[in-house]
Amino acid sequence: MSSPEQQPTTLTDETALAAPRRDFVKGAIAIGAGLTAISAPIIAGATVFLDPLLRSKDTPADGQATDAASAGKPGYVRVASLDSLAKGEPKLFKVFSDCTDAWNCFHDVPVGGVFLKLIGPQQVIAWNSRCPHLGCSVETTAGGEGFLCPCHMGKFGPDGERINEISPRDLDQLDVDIVGNDVWVQFKNYRQGISDKVEIS
Ligand code: FES
Repeated sequence: MSSPEQQPTTLTDETALAAPRRDFVKGAIAIGAGLTAISAPIIAGATVFLDPLLRSKDTPADGQATDAASAGKPGYVRVASLDSLAKGEPKLFKVFSDCTDAWNCFHDVPVGGVFLKLIGPQQVIAWNSRCPHLGCSVETTAGGEGFLCPCHMGKFGPDGERINEISPRDLDQLDVDIVGNDVWVQFKNYRQGISDKVEIS
């Protein structure tokens, strides 16, 4: 004679056991749906809020010529083509950026100027055109052999070196990268009126 534990399970018993399982599954689905509904707008809001931080400030697309954006190093802007430069003759170019800071992004905003000087095949020197004295725009001298600041007559030689005592330092040289026929510059502004080259962040 078999014990009660050994009795075969009846259909009624199985139905009774399945009911709590169904309730559990329904509850789990309801909790999951609730969490999804609550978290979706929170995630969307956080994404919008953090978007400027998540995007790299060094995105190469912030240059003047966005068609070549993928070629430049991060933090560099494309300024000109090599073809536009004549050897030994500094030439002034405007520099544009897409973003003014982490939170505001406008397309092609002028942020300054650079002089580019071709000194050899694939070799270019770049200077920020802002005078280190008080920030006026420097110009090339009439003969093109150096630079002159019209505000207080600060003078600089052909290599950007100061040749009178008005500016506290030489013209601010910038890093250059040549990619194919394009000249890319790591554009930076520096504090004026001091002898040290201190970047303005
Ligand atoms: S601002 Fe250039 S010499 Fe004064």
